[in-house]
Amino acid sequence: MSSHPLEEPGVSSRIIDPCILIIFGATGDLTARKLFPAIYNLAREGALPSQFAVVGFARREKSHDQFRQEMKDAINQHSRVKPVDESIWKDFEQQIFYHQSEFHEEKGYEALGNFLRELDGRFGTKGNRVFYLSTQPRFFTTICEKLHGSQLVYDEKKVQDKWSRIIIEKPFGHDLESAHNLQNELLQFLSENQIFRIDHYLGKETVQNLMVFRFANSLFESLWNSRYIDHVQITVGESIGIGRRGAFFEEAGLLRDIIQNHMMQLLSMVCMEPPVSLQANAIRDEKVKVLQALRPFTKDDFKKSIVRGQYGPGFIEGESVKGYREEKNVDPNSNVETYVAMRLFIDNWRWQGVPFYIRGGKRLPKRATEIAIQFKHPPEVLFQEQGKKHEPNVLAIRIQPDEGTALKINCKVPGPASPIQPVKMDFRYGSYFGMSPPEAYERLILDCMIGDTTLFAREDEVFNSWKLLDPVLKHWAETAPDCFPNYQAGTWGPELAEQMMACDGRKWRVL
Ligand code: BG6
Repeated sequence: MSSHPLEEPGVSSRIIDPCILIIFGATGDLTARKLFPAIYNLAREGALPSQFAVVGFARREKSHDQFRQEMKDAINQHSRVKPVDESIWKDFEQQIFYHQSEFHEEKGYEALGNFLRELDGRFGTKGNRVFYLSTQPRFFTTICEKLHGSQLVYDEKKVQDKWSRIIIEKPFGHDLESAHNLQNELLQFLSENQIFRIDHYLGKETVQNLMVFRFANSLFESLWNSRYIDHVQITVGESIGIGRRGAFFEEAGLLRDIIQNHMMQLLSMVCMEPPVSLQANAIRDEKVKVLQALRPFTKDDFKKSIVRGQYGPGFIEGESVKGYREEKNVDPNSNVETYVAMRLFIDNWRWQGVPFYIRGGKRLPKRATEIAIQFKHPPEVLFQEQGKKHEPNVLAIRIQPDEGTALKINCKVPGPASPIQPVKMDFRYGSYFGMSPPEAYERLILDCMIGDTTLFAREDEVFNSWKLLDPVLKHWAETAPDCFPNYQAGTWGPELAEQMMACDGRKWRVL
């Protein structure tokens, strides 16, 4: 019996079958920046099964050795532990291979099948497969169709002595309708159990800790409701721009890239009811209920509760940076949003009336992802200082960087006078555990090999999230913004977002 990832964080006692990981889109950015560093770190920690191989599948011609060298360079550049340890690499590189093919070419899949069977013979990988689709979304269906046609994915009902699973990168669809279509297409070739919709935020240690924090402590859960909480702010801030991903971002925009997936996952983890068990579906059932209870936007909300922004030129850490419209592969008149702020409500018993303010943006002053729970002001009966309200308690959960949790409480300053001052109790993962948390992709790749879907998005989570946001996308498509770019790179977003908060008598937190 394998233990659950949330039961024993850091304890890797789970049993992993021998298998081959095949990465589609192996020459892309994600493979170099995230996937290979993750696989290398798993190998370094001895977490991979001993019978294991990884095959990069992509359209460019290259030899196994070229691919190995490129991946080594990528690990040296992007891994959380570097440089590559030569003694580990020497063995590990023998398990890395490259397969060239177009995504639609049947003979490429036949050749892949033969090659994988040969590797099964060499490495004892027993026919088990993880296919990681790290390609542009338009290839997802074609790849699954071809894998099915060449019997590289197995019919679960007929084949029981080996397994095949598919990891699909986000975004899953580009709106509600296309997400449904994609799901229907995939179900022609796969069963739901075989589909692992990755949202790497769920693999972050600090996001997993949200459940432990809420449900393994009696202290906070009793206050976790509209009676005590004034509002919640969730921020996913990034100082980076869109880098080499101009073409992708022009089609996606920030709402599809960050809000629809990462932020909705954070929101549902913060707001869910305690699940009946730690089984994947028990947890996902509770998350879905939160998404189902999100109050749909009205026409009025498009003006009052939603802000979109796009960065112009500016400065990040003293260096001048381009505006979005000047970035490579971006239309100079682009109306694509690089910033979004929203006010949301969850219409259920626990959260009635509590506003959730979420904001995400590129080219903000710094990288900071945080969930801040702001409690109500204490009754103004005692400790009044002329006209001054004491600061409310705030619980700030830092998802990244400087992972940890801080609680702001009011305290008496020592001395005969009794001024009250807010102070901070601060827990930091790094200093307490003496290590930086593993990368999200490490956990998620392993979970897929184990067959644990807990930290992957279920179809109804994806659909409910699109259901809320679809009208926003439609409204934006019909109404061009008249003020883009409306924030300078290196600032905290458009003035309109400040105004949205000011209307409610609140302010965004300074991070
Ligand atoms: C990805 C988005 O899913 O998440 C990127 O496509 C974004 O645009 C990235 O930069 C942020 O991930 P992290 O782990 O650095 O917060």
